[in-house]
Amino acid sequence: MRLTPITIGNVQLKNNVVLAPLAGYTNYPFRRLCKGYGAGLCYTEMVSGKGLKYGSENTEELLYTDDAEGLCAAQIFGNDPEILRAACEHEKVAPFPIVDINMGCPVPKIYKNGEGSALLEDPILAEKIVKECVKSGKIITVKFRIGIHDSKLITTEFAKRMEGAGASLLTIHGRTKDKIYAGEVNFKEIESAKKAVKIPVIANGGVFSDADAEKLMAETGADGVMVARAALFDPQIFCALTGTPTENKFEMFQKQLKWTQQVCDERFVVVFMRKMAAFYVKGMRGAAVFKERLFKAQTPEEILHLAEQIWKE
Ligand SMILES: Cc1cc2nc3c(=O)[nH]c(=O)nc-3n(C[C@H](O)[C@H](O)[C@H](O)COP(=O)(O)O)c2cc1C
Repeated sequence: MRLTPITIGNVQLKNNVVLAPLAGYTNYPFRRLCKGYGAGLCYTEMVSGKGLKYGSENTEELLYTDDAEGLCAAQIFGNDPEILRAACEHEKVAPFPIVDINMGCPVPKIYKNGEGSALLEDPILAEKIVKECVKSGKIITVKFRIGIHDSKLITTEFAKRMEGAGASLLTIHGRTKDKIYAGEVNFKEIESAKKAVKIPVIANGGVFSDADAEKLMAETGADGVMVARAALFDPQIFCALTGTPTENKFEMFQKQLKWTQQVCDERFVVVFMRKMAAFYVKGMRGAAVFKERLFKAQTPEEILHLAEQIWKE
């Protein structure tokens, strides 16, 4: 796809292809991998504003980063403007110049709490949240969906409101909350919102190849694309989208495992890398047998050995 730099507030991204926030996946090692393969920006998984306020250790772990990773955006969720502003000002968020507010999460527990996609139904509160978070001095961005269901699409109105409140970039997932992750992406909604605002707009939904990314850009006029599920199956999708050289899958896996070991305990490494390996073999010959062995593996060394067998032979 056509690469262009994007400016968000006073930060310039090297290109307009970004890794989405993915709860349970976009931890430090995974983001570092995607960045190395060309992603112009990566987002942490969503982090609870309340979790930060009450000092949840688990929440703080989600915000691990270092200089090797470089520029990264943190994503937070919640519905209390003061708590979310305090989250932006939290010491664990200090390394992230950009903070994204989640206004799209469809998970029932989050929605019922009035957080994530529930904010689409309360644009005045959404606006207050952005205004309050902007006061923290962070560059504030918003990721949202086109509405709750197809009978009431709110994209353009909501985009204008978020821009007015001080957001520096919008990411629009072109599906309603009711569609979760399935179904067609509504290009028209994204296009109309893009035309209505001056800040950059990133389009999200259904990018699994370079052709998909080009189509999404062409149909919506967006400034860039965000890739989510495709990166789980193959982080090197960013190589295809940005022209970055690829590497052997085993080398990729080994690198990710090493970085995960650097920052996580062994139990997490085993569970997480088993999950990742299962994604990476999708569609390969012998994948079913591999996965059976994989889920019996109890140590990082066993997992690496299995990975070597499937990708090096
Ligand atoms: C496992 C999983 C976890 C996700 N976690 C988040 C999240 O933490 N924050 C967020 O804004 N969106 C989250 N999403 C939504 C994605 O960022 C993205 O908007 C959605 O998957 C559509 O993009 P895609 O069609 O490229 O997958 C998640 C999606 C999946 C499948």
